[in-house]
Amino acid sequence: MVARDEKMIDRVVSSLSTILYGGDYNPEQWPEEVWQEDMKLMKEAHINEVTLNVFSWSLLQPSESEYDFHLLDRIVDICKANGLRIVMATGTGALPAWMCLRHPDVNRIGYNGEIYRHNGRENFCASSPTFRKYAGLLAAKMAQHYVERGDAGAGDSPIVAWHLSNEYSGFCWCDRCAQAFREWLKAKYHNNIDEVNDAWNAHMWSHTYHSFDEIFPPNTRGDGMEGGAYWAGHAVLGGYSLDYRHFYNDQVRACIKLERDAVRTYDTYAPITTNMMGTFNDYDYYKQGELLDVISWDSYPGLGEDAAVIDMRHDLMRGVAHGEPWMLMEQAPSNQNWMPYCYVKRPGQLAELSWQAVAHGANTVQYFQIRQARSGCEKFHSGIISADGTNKTRRFREAAQLGKQLEQLSAQILATKPRHGQVALIFDWNAWWDIQFSVGPTQALDYVAECQRWYRELHRRNIAVDVVSPLENLQDYQAVLTPCLQSVDKAVVENLRNYVSHGGRLLMTTMTAVADEHDSLYQGEQPVPLRDLAGIWVEETDSLAPSTPVGLAFTGEEAQAPQVSPSTSKERASAAGKATYGKATYGEVAGGKAIGNKVAGGEQPYGTTLFDILHADSDTEVLATYTDQFYAGTPALTFHALEQGGKLENGAAGVIYCATMPNEPAIARIVDRLLTGLAVEQMVTLPMCEKCQSCGTPCSPDCQKATSAIEITRRVARADKPGARDLVFVMNTAEPPVSFTAPVSGKDLLTGKLVKQGDTLTMAGFETLILQQ
Ligand code: GAL
Repeated sequence: MVARDEKMIDRVVSSLSTILYGGDYNPEQWPEEVWQEDMKLMKEAHINEVTLNVFSWSLLQPSESEYDFHLLDRIVDICKANGLRIVMATGTGALPAWMCLRHPDVNRIGYNGEIYRHNGRENFCASSPTFRKYAGLLAAKMAQHYVERGDAGAGDSPIVAWHLSNEYSGFCWCDRCAQAFREWLKAKYHNNIDEVNDAWNAHMWSHTYHSFDEIFPPNTRGDGMEGGAYWAGHAVLGGYSLDYRHFYNDQVRACIKLERDAVRTYDTYAPITTNMMGTFNDYDYYKQGELLDVISWDSYPGLGEDAAVIDMRHDLMRGVAHGEPWMLMEQAPSNQNWMPYCYVKRPGQLAELSWQAVAHGANTVQYFQIRQARSGCEKFHSGIISADGTNKTRRFREAAQLGKQLEQLSAQILATKPRHGQVALIFDWNAWWDIQFSVGPTQALDYVAECQRWYRELHRRNIAVDVVSPLENLQDYQAVLTPCLQSVDKAVVENLRNYVSHGGRLLMTTMTAVADEHDSLYQGEQPVPLRDLAGIWVEETDSLAPSTPVGLAFTGEEAQAPQVSPSTSKERASAAGKATYGKATYGEVAGGKAIGNKVAGGEQPYGTTLFDILHADSDTEVLATYTDQFYAGTPALTFHALEQGGKLENGAAGVIYCATMPNEPAIARIVDRLLTGLAVEQMVTLPMCEKCQSCGTPCSPDCQKATSAIEITRRVARADKPGARDLVFVMNTAEPPVSFTAPVSGKDLLTGKLVKQGDTLTMAGFETLILQQ
């Protein structure tokens, strides 16, 4: 792991000493009079930054030998004159049409063999020598030009960061890539084709290779599968497709590196970044992040995605940054245009989403985009300034109010940083790809969704979670979860073993440590490389349709027949009314937050989709069993203590193994066990809708959902900032108002109001409090 220079993020804000507030600005679409208007409006909205030149390659370079910076210079000058800081893009995110025409090697070939001409954006072949040559040259010329102009290269320059390309994405499957892939394989496998055959376990379906020339990109014309739902997108040889992923990732990294180095040759001061996309499948962001000075990402929550979904992405991006603050490079001021239904942000929602990002580590708040596009495929995407060009819109007023607050609170916020999590959830790209390429055991295993389900339960309890690489240093975490970490290499195994043997508590689930990094099943009793620590042997795994649950009986609790989630809100409400709870340990429903051994309301605990049928060793404690199928009564949840006789309640180290994909009530119970005996701080609150406050129980799953909307996240004082104080962000992340008991005391920096622990707080929809401790 490369240690990130934690001071680099400070350089992004240093010359202003204020949080960067602004975003993508594309004035090339309007006459210059409009720019002047924009400047006035930006000032009014407290905008202090613009991100320029993201897609201007064809304007900057009309041919192989001509560069023309005049227009961009005029834009830079007007921004400078108005005191704006600039995040300058290298502009290589979309190819110029002349290049696609005259140098066809820059064009991508698609997964199905489609030949692309000039199209869209992020459209280059990462192996193309022409692309690399001209992208590197443009990045160098940009940096040289703006350093020579005095606009970049020093602590007080207007250009505060460089932005390479834009949202790198996609793959190419052309013959040039094929050749580069062969070279990459030769380097990786010591020029020995037998090593490739071994790694890919190629002796099936007549796939033994005798020469590197026999290997082609595994798209649908090669070894990537097409056909029915069960095959499409999967791989004949997982190791082969995984290697192509890693190869193409390396090609893109080479492109990033060459642009980065070109910029760095001239600007030796400003941080360099590229904007990532959270749980984005194509590239391993841990590796990509190692090339960058600061991590930045674009947060675009989809319709219905709640705080838990959004925050897991924030926390993952912070994991890529090894816990350091990051830049929120883009978010929509209101509606995004690329969704099935392009909802506008609700009153207050923009600010709440922005504070949520800050709470999880953002040190900038930026948008796509400042002025709404005039036409084209982004014309229905919101800008802070809409087509009316005024300050009269709700989105403008809300953005301006947020800008003012950020300006006022910058010093206190920038004196803090995200706290180190108490619990780590491991997220891994190789494991994700491996699941994707596998045919079976179920089409219903969605790796990201599975990680999110576990994350959600921790989030519901307001526990500080870090979402990290399996190679991250785990020693400071009280508990670590590895949902469906299907493939693990030796280094990962060693890291996990090291964690447990030094006193850690690991929660493994079904489909963890099943295969090596090349997708070959470990030979032996599963989970082979962690078999001894887990204290169980998975003999076989049953897979049923998600609509066929199997009940779970938790030790000390009366078993109930499983109930499948009703789908309509009416059904949900009536099911909630009928729900009964086991008498022993889980007799009470505690207002939406799991408290101690009480769990949230709703259904009975059950597992779905995958069911490991396992044998527990004699020193392994069985915490839950299945209640149905031929494996009724066999273990579904176990704990194996590292030291003989170790007990969960005494904080014993060891492995909890969860053999199925549990529903929410089961996950709540399992997380209770995971945290038993550990000193994990849960910012527990008792939120309830007004109607329910009298009886103390959420009236329905909808109320339950609303009451889970309170999020409490701490940023901690930086040791190098004298007088810095912790900040606790308390946010109502949803629309309905919520009342609950304040878990901490502090002065709200937004209103000056004093909050005392134990007070009843009523928060309006999307309201935020920033409590200074
Ligand atoms: C981002 C992209 C921006 C803009 C935005 C619209 O993914 O980086 O250029 O297209 O989406 O939501």
